[in-house]
Amino acid sequence: MTTLTETAEWRALAAHQLALRGARVTDLLAAEPERVQRMTVDAAGLTFDFSRHRATEQTLGLLTALARARAVPQWRERMFAGEPINATEQRAVLHVALRGQGHGPAAQAAVDEARVTLSRVGAIARDLRSGAWRGATGKAITDVLHIGIGGSDLGPRLIVDALRPLADGPRVHFVANVDPDDLGDALAGCDPETTLVIVISKTFTTIETLTNAEGARAWLAAGLPGSLDRHLIAVSNNVAAAAAFGVATANILPMAESVGGRYSVWSAVGLSIAVALGPEAFADLLSGAAAMDRHFLEAPLERNAPALLALMGVWYTNFWGAQTHAVLPYARRLDLLPDYLQQLEMESNGKRVDRDGNPVGYATAPVLFGNVGANSQHSFHQLLHQGTLLVPADFVLVRRRAAPQPYQRILLASALAQAAALTSGAASPGQPEKDYPGNAPSTTIVLPELAPATLGALLAAYEHKVFVQGVLWHINSFDQMGVELGKAIARTFLAAFEGGAPPAAADAAARAMIARLTA
Ligand code: F6P
Repeated sequence: MTTLTETAEWRALAAHQLALRGARVTDLLAAEPERVQRMTVDAAGLTFDFSRHRATEQTLGLLTALARARAVPQWRERMFAGEPINATEQRAVLHVALRGQGHGPAAQAAVDEARVTLSRVGAIARDLRSGAWRGATGKAITDVLHIGIGGSDLGPRLIVDALRPLADGPRVHFVANVDPDDLGDALAGCDPETTLVIVISKTFTTIETLTNAEGARAWLAAGLPGSLDRHLIAVSNNVAAAAAFGVATANILPMAESVGGRYSVWSAVGLSIAVALGPEAFADLLSGAAAMDRHFLEAPLERNAPALLALMGVWYTNFWGAQTHAVLPYARRLDLLPDYLQQLEMESNGKRVDRDGNPVGYATAPVLFGNVGANSQHSFHQLLHQGTLLVPADFVLVRRRAAPQPYQRILLASALAQAAALTSGAASPGQPEKDYPGNAPSTTIVLPELAPATLGALLAAYEHKVFVQGVLWHINSFDQMGVELGKAIARTFLAAFEGGAPPAAADAAARAMIARLTA
């Protein structure tokens, strides 16, 4: 295959960028009466406004031509058909099957398997919520401890927090970090007799999770007579390790190998969502994602929200030199969205070799960062308005809220004002410190309301964005080899903290620091 940067489509985009360099989005908005309508896409109930981008009709044509030249529609077919597109690990990529999507025998088998697991998730959640599930001493469960890290934590943590007003089941507490304060804070106020621990780990080898699981198990054992079976559930692809840890076989829910951790919120990993909000809400989350899957499959690239999110990202990263991307949700309940997307985008596409093992000759995933608006305005927006970096931004708004006024009015007005100010800028002749260059691009995404289905659609849109970018950059978005080296070194350093000698391979800085920290 021709190297990406040597394709005619890439060259055409580079030439087009030169031609567009001086263009102002403000002028494009003023000159094209149909622009906003033309560049706004409705998808699965969400609205995506792309009109604040440094892009014309021609830009969209060139970007979608690049996507076609790099076979995005064919790769999309391959993913939905369950082909092993995670080539380094020889695995299919079937998170879409968890929402009932996919075609062909491999995908259908995954859909069927997911259905069975999800019905077990529903049954357990129902029993826990109704009080039918009793602890060892006969009491109903009031608190659930969700122990997991990365993809085994961020999705459920985001969804439960985002939808907390709907939570009417046992309280769910999340423990991720290998820091006793994390577990200690979560356990404060919990009683072993009425607490259920769910250990989530695809591999069941993650040191942070296993350490916390051991701590929680010891806490349960100290407070309960006899078996812990009514207090321990595991979700894992490594059923044998979960059983060896002491989880009753009937309490182990499987995770498919074809679902990466950061794509797993839709699986049994979401059990705590079903417990907190109810199995119906969990089902709605999945239907919202499924609606976005269908949009992604069916809409032409020019009107395809995930594809356009991806293409705009490539436009700025590869043709305008952007190295960052901001996510700004204007709803307190979405303040974990940037954390979730950091793993999704940066663990998936933070890659430097292509699918053929060659170094990529172009930038891949930018640094994604963000914070909830309006807090972000009072923190880093100064840099967005007047700094030297180009920072494309996603504004994520929620249209209808049960919030009393004036809160919601102020939030929405603030978000729109920020987007407009970033576009227009403002000149202050004679006062350069008050000059705003403007022309900073943004997408505005609107959720009609904060609900399971709209959140499902939003997260699925970002998943498909990441997929399209991975195809364009010709990288494997579905492995994460880059996290392994640090884990392996940590294992050797741990011995030194346990009284052993520093590993021979430790460098001088590490040896000196180990000596200082263990003195
Ligand atoms: O270290 C990164 C990672 O492998 C993520 O990809 C994953 O989501 C997280 O660790 C947790 O892994 P596990 O679910 O196997 O404990």
